[in-house]
Amino acid sequence: MRILVLGSGAREHAIILALRSEEASHAIYAAPGNAGIARDAHLVDLDANDPAAVTAFAKDQAIDLVVIGPEAPLVAGVADAVRERGIPVFGPGKAAAQLEGSKTYAKRIMDAAGVPTGRAMRAHDLVGVEAALDELGAPHVVKADGLAAGKGVIVTSDRASALAHAETYLPSGGVLIEEFLSGPEVSLFFLSDGDRVLPLSPAQDFKRLRDGDEGPNTGGMGAYSPLPWLTERFGGEQEFVDQVTREVAEPVIRQMDAEGTPFIGLLYAGLILTEQGVKVIEFNARFGDPETQVVLPRLIDPLSELLLAAASGTLDTHPRPAFAEATAVTVVLASEGYPEAPLTGRVLTGVDEAEEVDGVHVAHAATARRENDLLATGGRVLNVVALGTTFREARTAAYEGIERIGLEGGQYRTDIAARVVED
Ligand code: AMP
Ligand code: GLY
Repeated sequence: MRILVLGSGAREHAIILALRSEEASHAIYAAPGNAGIARDAHLVDLDANDPAAVTAFAKDQAIDLVVIGPEAPLVAGVADAVRERGIPVFGPGKAAAQLEGSKTYAKRIMDAAGVPTGRAMRAHDLVGVEAALDELGAPHVVKADGLAAGKGVIVTSDRASALAHAETYLPSGGVLIEEFLSGPEVSLFFLSDGDRVLPLSPAQDFKRLRDGDEGPNTGGMGAYSPLPWLTERFGGEQEFVDQVTREVAEPVIRQMDAEGTPFIGLLYAGLILTEQGVKVIEFNARFGDPETQVVLPRLIDPLSELLLAAASGTLDTHPRPAFAEATAVTVVLASEGYPEAPLTGRVLTGVDEAEEVDGVHVAHAATARRENDLLATGGRVLNVVALGTTFREARTAAYEGIERIGLEGGQYRTDIAARVVED
């Protein structure tokens, strides 16, 4: 197959590595990619957010499948343009991508579909924010309504901080004040062809910057998969996945189809397991980052076939994807100053040495080559991913790997998957 992957993060690198690991060999193009992706795909210099440029390249190069990694091209309508030209594309159109881009839209779909989620109130001004904070009580959860690159949410018991956060985001389309939900979080991905869904294996993401879930929210500082502790609560991963498929994914996909905005692509359900049951915190319209880096290495079925089936409306011909028993752990290396103001352009060392650790590979997020140097060019720089037969093995390998990497001011959490090893 001739496949074009849009995006430049570790998620896109993970997608490309999964495509490369298949028995079938593919011609893989990545736009714009990064220094790590350059080893595994042909880099294409085109604006991934420009529908006309992407469509022209896909036509010219007889691309069989376009895979959209990040949300920006979705919101820019790239999937619509590609689909209009008759090229299979994995990723929802602009209207369906609102499931991620607008929290108000997502809440409305969930209400209409009867999907369990926290109570929320929308506010357009500070008077409305104050009233909602009073009504829903502390701890306070305030969310920007639109896309905010993982920084739009604050969870705090301090009313002044909640108000200040609301003030920042009120001018860009209003805010949502939400009921505080408490419990472990799970990310569960579904492939959707607009009509039918197939679940992948669940993962857990570590959203806060520092150990012990301290510090600001980030895009995600690490992840692991599978989640053995689901067994205690649900009897097994399969039972949990079945429940979420039935109560969350299928009703949402049906509702969106009924409204004339079918969702074709990756439905990311961000879930919280409360005492009152499983509730949705958010949806994304794309693979999660860094969860993808631990989910896809465990996938046994050929990824290209699944993505093509979703893009062409034939998921019903596929059985549920199977996953290896192996455990996967990933630790993110971030630049100094991330997430507020990352310092970029510094030299990275030891990446090849990290990959010499048994079971370890590196998924690049923001890297570039300058002559013989590898540079860190963004906030989240790379992911050290380790596979093992036990979590202890995978976790030990991941940390052995990351310790071999040098980056001045680099930050990473030291407690990724620590608890699951103790259990
Ligand atoms: P979101 O961008 O909506 O995924 O929120 C980012 C993070 O904020 C989530 O992963 C949770 O850790 C936290 N969060 C969001 N909504 C709530 C909520 N209603 N109650 C408690 N924590 C939340
Ligand atoms: N890891 C969270 C996300 O991808 O949104």
